[in-house]
Amino acid sequence: MDVMNPPTLKHRASKTLYRWRSASLESHLRALAPQWRGRALEITTETLGANASFVNYVRHHRLLDPCTGQHVEIVEKSIRKVALISSQEARFHRAEGMLAESTNFQYPECLGVIETPWESLIFTEFVRGKPPHMHVIARQLAQGIAELEHLSHVYLVSQPLAKAALYWSMDFFRPWFLLRPRFNFARCLPALAQLGLADERFAGLAERFKAFLPVTSGMAAKARRSPRCISHMDYLRKNLFVDNGQLHLIDWSEVKVGRIGFDGGAYLGSLFRRKDMKVFLAAQAEFIEAYRAALPERFDVEQALGNLRYVFLLTALFHCLRPETVAEYKERDRMGLLLEKYHYLLGMLEQG
Ligand SMILES: Nc1ncnc2c1ncn2[C@@H]1O[C@H](COP(=O)(O)OP(=O)(O)O)[C@@H](O)[C@H]1O
Ligand SMILES: [Mg+2]
Repeated sequence: MDVMNPPTLKHRASKTLYRWRSASLESHLRALAPQWRGRALEITTETLGANASFVNYVRHHRLLDPCTGQHVEIVEKSIRKVALISSQEARFHRAEGMLAESTNFQYPECLGVIETPWESLIFTEFVRGKPPHMHVIARQLAQGIAELEHLSHVYLVSQPLAKAALYWSMDFFRPWFLLRPRFNFARCLPALAQLGLADERFAGLAERFKAFLPVTSGMAAKARRSPRCISHMDYLRKNLFVDNGQLHLIDWSEVKVGRIGFDGGAYLGSLFRRKDMKVFLAAQAEFIEAYRAALPERFDVEQALGNLRYVFLLTALFHCLRPETVAEYKERDRMGLLLEKYHYLLGMLEQG
């Protein structure tokens, strides 16, 4: 991989530093890499495209390490705070060493986090590579996800009680996550009932989709009691880089303390949204086969697949039923495909 040596910060006890206010980039970097104190830093900066609404900016900095003379490339991500609460992503980076033994996914090293009352500044190593075609990497993702779930599960169960509050606040089942529109497809049903009046192919479907409400609550209750792990929850091609056959995963802005299987559901849910049925079904079969083989025996694979279906349904139902999606399919004259997706989802009701 074409990444220049990032400054090593291993001698510091914690990667998170607290500041009352934001300072210059140079002083932040000197705080993270004390060997640079008193040295001039010449930095060139480029802005990278950010997507999440709470992200102030993402920047790519290049500089020469004044100690070694080597090129250094660093990404700085600034995340806005609400009510002084640090971002999920910043909290994730406090779990140092959790994924150090990962062999499937590669994760750019986090150089440090600076917390001010208004923002979290996350500094990571810059990675290069191509964005993958998401359906092509199903197998590789299954292996990466199974390993991420296993390593993070082992980490979470070994944490001292002092960290319990941190992980409690990051749990998928906290109301501040569950109340988000993306996990509440029921809000889209009135618009679907309207569509049924205008287009008879969609008549009566809103009523049938209501049956998912008790089904997903039952799945949620089962999932809650299953083994915890860290779930990335945002498998988009913009968040992955392929380089030399290796898969680098970035962007922990959606991270949660989830349950084994959730990430597979998040991946397949976003694939279902973007691809036609044939591509989706082939990738799904590959993913599930590889995931079954990769999940360590200590986990109950059927329970994990139940959790996968739960997050898949939450994601797919919301994306397919929301009025914006319906408008998009209408505009592109693809209502037939949308109907096919609706029937696929309704078919899952019968499978139980
Ligand atoms: N470590 C990195 N190496 C290379 N590019 C990165 C890195 N982090 C972010 N980027 C680029 O910046 C974009 C936005 O960063 P990301 O962390 O995904 O923010 P957001 O939460 O807004 O999606 C990414 O899609 C990617 O192109
Ligand atoms: Mg992103």
